[in-house]
Amino acid sequence: MKIKELISKEKIENRVRELAEVIAEDFKGTDPLFISVLNGGFMFTTDLLKNIPYPIQVEFIKASSYLNNTYSSGNVDLTETSFEVKDRDIIIIEDILDTGRTLNKIKGYLKEKGAKNIYSVVLLDKPARRVEEFKPDYVGFEIDDHFVAGYGIDYKQKGRNLPFIGIIE
Ligand code: XMP
Ligand code: MG
Repeated sequence: MKIKELISKEKIENRVRELAEVIAEDFKGTDPLFISVLNGGFMFTTDLLKNIPYPIQVEFIKASSYLNNTYSSGNVDLTETSFEVKDRDIIIIEDILDTGRTLNKIKGYLKEKGAKNIYSVVLLDKPARRVEEFKPDYVGFEIDDHFVAGYGIDYKQKGRNLPFIGIIE
């Protein structure tokens, strides 16, 4: 697997800290529930939430949408969750917003379960690949249509451990 650096470890760290500061301020005193989307969102989630300076609740949901390694199947599978979302303000934490299917599916699922307001923070946004309209509330970096890995994101199940984000060559 060959991977060429696109966003450095330092750039990610700085941007994640900035996002956390803005989100912490915006949701101060509102007791938000953060929902991290696994697997890709795990590293972003820990770094983001370590920079929120007051206690919050975080829960996890697992979404899978990929077939043939790189092409979206169009179907998104979600694991059933048991945590309570009724009347809560929710912030979904996601690694990449691509076609928009995953976040729309999660949003619909949470709405059905009675969530009050649903916001989202995505580390990467690839607007060129959007199939379904979706407007994230917070974006780390907008990127062109590259297939990327690192910082939680995999290529054929590998590379999630890398501290930077790179393009698969
Ligand atoms: P959708 O298309 O539902 O996709 O917005 C969101 C999910 O697709 C995965 N994804 C990628 N995974 N490299 C990856 O390893 C990529 O470049 C890429 N683009 C999208 C990702 O899991 C994301 O949550
Ligand atoms: Mg993801």
